Amino acid sequence: MGKMSVNLCGIELDNPVIPASGTYGFGYEFAELYDINMLGTFSFKGTTKDPRFGNPTPRIAECPMGMINSVGLQNPGVEKVISEELPKLKKCFNKPVMANVSGFSVDEYVYTCEKLDKCEQVGWLEVNVSCPNVHGGGMSFGTSPEAAAEVTRAVKKVTTKPVIIKLSPNVTDIVSIAKACEDAGADGISLINTLLGMRIDLKTRRPVIANKMGGFSGSAIFPVAVRMVYQVANAVKIPVVGMGGVSSAEDVIEMMLAGATAVEVGAANLINPYACKEIIEDLPRVMEKYRIDDLTDIIGGVK
Ligand code: FUM
Repeated sequence: MGKMSVNLCGIELDNPVIPASGTYGFGYEFAELYDINMLGTFSFKGTTKDPRFGNPTPRIAECPMGMINSVGLQNPGVEKVISEELPKLKKCFNKPVMANVSGFSVDEYVYTCEKLDKCEQVGWLEVNVSCPNVHGGGMSFGTSPEAAAEVTRAVKKVTTKPVIIKLSPNVTDIVSIAKACEDAGADGISLINTLLGMRIDLKTRRPVIANKMGGFSGSAIFPVAVRMVYQVANAVKIPVVGMGGVSSAEDVIEMMLAGATAVEVGAANLINPYACKEIIEDLPRVMEKYRIDDLTDIIGGVK
């Protein structure tokens, strides 16, 4: 069997597969189905300073080859994540976890990251400047190089662990934003979050989603994600975590060829809770098929 381990910002992963934030809860929910220690790691539910109830329902719209969500960063707030969710996770996951953080101001990002940085279970901070479903926060920090850099700089000042900035595809020039984050001290970039989308119910003539619009994810966005990962990986020197519509071991390999050091799997977990398990189990077969001895060798290997 070939070598599947990769190094993400100084931390070794047994394999590059990482369930994406918002599709894997706090991990222990999936531990009822299989041993989640087989994952590279996972990115836990987007966490904010204060608890959030999230957006009004309906929050989900199904689409061909994908779905739209407008969850609105529902989460119990950082204090409860630390006092209740992480202890539950500790019982079933013995690897460093990726802490996904959102905020509505630079101070909120700083507050939440500083708290999570002190948790020994946390390996990386994934700072989400790309949530399309909230006003006055989330994506508004990820659509300008200056704002994304400001968040990065502020978070880096109060943390010791690798900071990975999660970027939005809903921009005209993602490369300039990625480079601004790198210059501001980011240790890695993850992309892409969801594409802003909308569905309309023909009978009611109303938007399907209460919040009108939401983030489109699923296999349909995979080619867009590969393109953006390729563009960013060729422009920065820090590691890139690729995501967006990944649903098979072949997709993982394709993302890595585009330049990803590790690969997040999102919507696929909502269709099939065993998706990540199956992808990891299938990776050796696909590596053998394409004569890959060591996954690290193929990162950015597209000709
Ligand atoms: O609505 C949400 O909670 C989505 C978050 C995200 O896409 O970052």
